[in-house]
Amino acid sequence: RTTKAAELVERLTRWRDDFPTPGVRFADLTPVFADPEGFRAVIDCLAACAPDADLVAGVDARGFLLGAGVAATLGTGVLAVRKAGKLPPPVLTREYSLEYGTAALEIPGDGVDLAGRRVLLLDDVLATGGTLAAAAELFRAAGAEVVSAAVVLELSFLEGRSRQGDYPLTSVVRI
Ligand code: PRP
Ligand code: MG
Repeated sequence: RTTKAAELVERLTRWRDDFPTPGVRFADLTPVFADPEGFRAVIDCLAACAPDADLVAGVDARGFLLGAGVAATLGTGVLAVRKAGKLPPPVLTREYSLEYGTAALEIPGDGVDLAGRRVLLLDDVLATGGTLAAAAELFRAAGAEVVSAAVVLELSFLEGRSRQGDYPLTSVVRI
C-alpha cells in the first residue's frame, strides 16, 4: 500500500548524480518539505511510528526540520543531535564512519534529563546507517531508550538497516 506521504516523496524528491562526490546519487528532500501536503503527510507518518515517545530527536541538519514538526504534533519536546563542535561542554560524543574518514555527533551531557526517556529518533535519509546508529548510541549512553527510529528515505542497497540496534526502524519510502 502506497501512502500519501510515500507518493509525495517519490514525486517531489530531487535526485542528482555524482553529488557530493562522483558515483554518489544524492536524494534532496527539500521540495518535499517545502510542499504543504508533503510536509504534513511526512510528519504525520513519522509521528505515527512512536505515539508514546516522550522526546523527539532529530539529526543535524535536515533531521531538525522533522524533529520539530513531529514533536509539535506529538506534544513532546525536541532535541537536536549536533555535529561535533557546536555544543558547549559537557557533551556526549560518538564518532561514526563516512566514506572517507570519520565524523562525530554530540548531545548535551547535562541540562536535559535523559534517564529513562522514550526517544523517537529521526533523520531524513538512511544510507550506510552510521549516522543513525551513532545518534542512537548517544541516547543509550545517556540512559534513554530509543523506542523507535524513522527516516523519510531508506536507500536499502547500502544496508544501513543492518547496522541499527534493536529499535524498530521505519522508512516512509524504501528504495
Ligand atoms: C546525510 C543524511 C543522513 C546521513 C545518512 O547527512 O542527511 O544524515 O547522510 O548517511 P549514513 O546512513 O551513511 O550515515 P550528511 O552527513 O550528508 O550531513 P547533513 O545532513 O548535514 O547534510
Ligand atoms: Mg544528515
